[in-house]
Amino acid sequence: MKMLVLLGPPGSGKGTQAHLLQQQGWLRISTGDLLRDIVNKDNELSKKIKTILAAGKLVKDEIVFDLIKEEILNNKDKDIVLDGFPRNAAQAKMLIKFALNYDIIIILMKLTDAEIIKRNTARRICKNCQRIYNINLLPINQTNVCIECGSELYQRNDDKEEVIRERINVYNKEIDGILKIFKDKYKINEVDANRPPEEIYKEINDII
Ligand code: AP5
Ligand code: MG
Repeated sequence: MKMLVLLGPPGSGKGTQAHLLQQQGWLRISTGDLLRDIVNKDNELSKKIKTILAAGKLVKDEIVFDLIKEEILNNKDKDIVLDGFPRNAAQAKMLIKFALNYDIIIILMKLTDAEIIKRNTARRICKNCQRIYNINLLPINQTNVCIECGSELYQRNDDKEEVIRERINVYNKEIDGILKIFKDKYKINEVDANRPPEEIYKEINDII
């Protein structure tokens, strides 16, 4: 089985590409989506996680690792695309130890800060199917409703400029540590994310 690890700054298109791969039969595991599901519940843990997400900081490694472990163990027969994990060197080590039975493929999506801010402030997500949109790429009268399922679109709580900048800071602080762990064992496939989604998707398919 394959395990594709999508690395890249916020807004580089990890979620967008993971959704496309899901349509092709890959199991998409997005730690951001899993954490946002928890935030929508009403308990002590959800309150704590909500505060961390709203500040653009990282949730504790153990909490996130337990979430993805469960998904992986429940889907042993599927190729997996990881969107949002690992986020630091400790998580990268956890993954390598845990995913011994998988062919791990690493993709690093590259994007400038200016484009990151532009895209994340323009992001809208379907409340029902989680499909991701860039309102700048949608027809002007179609920015409220999901084209796929007709449900309402919403804006993420952490897609405010100051929080996006903090998420970029966290990413820049952690990415070298992650790459250091991976580069001894795997090829790091760099992908220019400043291109249309379909072009990037084609390149990812060539790599996998
Ligand atoms: P997460 O949900 O993973 O957010 P992120 O890493 O900040 O990444 P984004 O989802 O913002 O970007 P993306 O690369 O998926 O881009 P997308 O495809 O949506 O994490 C959120 C929070 O959860 C973290 O801050 C942290 O608190 C916590 N967390 C998550 N994982 C964790 C972990 N492992 N450990 C600890 N904490 C964790 O695209 C963005 C926009 O651009 C959209 O509008 C889209 O339509 C548009 N777009 C995409 N591709 C293109 C393109 N090629 N051209 C034009 N527009 C495009
Ligand atoms: Mg995402």
